[in-house]
Amino acid sequence: MELFNTDFAGRSVHSQSHHWCTPPQYVAAVKRVFGGEIELDPCSNQESVVNAKCEFALPETDGLAQEWNFPSIYVNPPYGADRARGTTIRDWLAKCASSRTEYGAQVIALVPVATNTSHWKKYVFGSADAVCFLYDTRLRFLVNGSTDNKGAPMACAMIYWGDNFLAFETVFSVFGAVVSLASLKKARQNTRQKQKPKEMFLFDFNSLKPQTRRSAAG
Ligand SMILES: C[S@@+](CC[C@H](N)C(=O)[O-])C[C@H]1O[C@@H](n2cnc3c(N)ncnc32)[C@H](O)[C@@H]1O
Repeated sequence: MELFNTDFAGRSVHSQSHHWCTPPQYVAAVKRVFGGEIELDPCSNQESVVNAKCEFALPETDGLAQEWNFPSIYVNPPYGADRARGTTIRDWLAKCASSRTEYGAQVIALVPVATNTSHWKKYVFGSADAVCFLYDTRLRFLVNGSTDNKGAPMACAMIYWGDNFLAFETVFSVFGAVVSLASLKKARQNTRQKQKPKEMFLFDFNSLKPQTRRSAAG
């Protein structure tokens, strides 16, 4: 039996598969938040029970290279580094965050808890709207179509980018501790707004300088 070695958040995890599929109770919960359907699963496989309306799967379609212009998106990304494509979980979280800002998508991602990583600091805190820290001591993913009784060794969370906090909280408070990230998001927006006048000043200064010189010479 082939053993895979997955690195994430500085930890090394051995498992029999890197195709850890979402258990049905979590798929049902995500669908409830989205009002019944998941429009896109950008990283699917043949054993998945997500059954989104549109699914991207290797080797045919690289989900990270596609536009995620869909109203509701569920992402349970590969947790290890993809050396062939040079991508990591950071790229999947970045795409979740940008799908919200670019297309107004509602996005839920199931990922390992890694609050001290730069990808959580950048794409979860200050970007996402809520997180549910799952109570499962060992989350039992589906592996090759069956429940993996050993369960995953790391804590997992559902991250939510969207405007229906109430629906997310109502559905997911059964599965874990739901925390709103609204204040962190607002704080980051305020910081960005405060930085804007400085950037405008630099832009004006640089673009006016050559004109002043030209008019002085003429
Ligand atoms: C953790 S599994 C999740 C499967 C399914 N979304 C679910 O939740 O049940 C992640 C899957 O993403 C697939 N995958 C990895 N990189 C991908 C990529 N660049 N594009 C599409 N699928 C990818 C892998 O083959 C793997 O089966």
